[in-house]
Amino acid sequence: MILAGSASQSLAAAVAATLPEELAAVERTRFADGEFKLRVPAGADRAVIVASTTSPAAHLEVLQLQDAARTVADEVVTVLPYMGYARQDRAFRSGEPVSARAVARAVSTGTDRVLTVNPHEDDVLEFFDVPATAVDAAPRLAEPLPDLADPLFLAPDEGAVDLVSRVRDAYGAGEVDHFRKERDRETGEVSMRAADADAGGRPVVVVDDIVATGGTTSEAVGHLRGDDPASVHVACVHPMLAGDARTRLARAGVDAVYGTDTIEREVSTVTVAPALAAHL
Ligand code: R5P
Repeated sequence: MILAGSASQSLAAAVAATLPEELAAVERTRFADGEFKLRVPAGADRAVIVASTTSPAAHLEVLQLQDAARTVADEVVTVLPYMGYARQDRAFRSGEPVSARAVARAVSTGTDRVLTVNPHEDDVLEFFDVPATAVDAAPRLAEPLPDLADPLFLAPDEGAVDLVSRVRDAYGAGEVDHFRKERDRETGEVSMRAADADAGGRPVVVVDDIVATGGTTSEAVGHLRGDDPASVHVACVHPMLAGDARTRLARAGVDAVYGTDTIEREVSTVTVAPALAAHL
């Protein structure tokens, strides 16, 4: 059976539609003090939990679903389409937690294996105590892009060039370049510089693994080289779009945003369900 987390109901349904296992009805109630209670149905060989951990409540819900699933299924698989806290994958000062490790350890206790989609760094998989696999949704980000003449695909930094190249390869045409980041030796502040490629008059596609506050992407769009681009598209695997990110992007000159359903938003026009199902 497929068990949907509250934040991943459409994606869980799409995964269930591609597998012989049923989408289960999960009963959700609350105790008088506000604490969450849930109940899963009985009798399955395997329980597949599909739950993006986009909030503290979603993290807790995964642990509860796992614990309940263990009582009714022989095998538990946990799919974290978007793994929250994955970007906190190192401690910068002593006394800080490596939150990605803490979360991975907790999730490992209730599952036989883990699937996640494009974590910020694949190294995060090593924090799990059970087999963990990263599924690549990047090629699917090419699907919603319209026909673009001589497109320029841009990564916000050098680290994202591989991701961007996979999107461009799936699209089948276009140049790839990346913005430059520089750290001021005295203040330690990071600033962005334009990519070498000229964006003047061309359609531009900025690709990133996640758009959270929209700060990185907006800043990047503000550093395009050359005259006005023909159009500006933003494609990301995880469209977190927190707070006023959508407004920020629009004000920066972004014409269209595309994302996957690892985080279910209005812009989630691409489903990762087939990519996940291939690993289930
Ligand atoms: C950073 O390395 C990531 O790839 C993203 O560029 C970043 O986390 C996006 O966050 P925000 O939208 O808040 O700038």
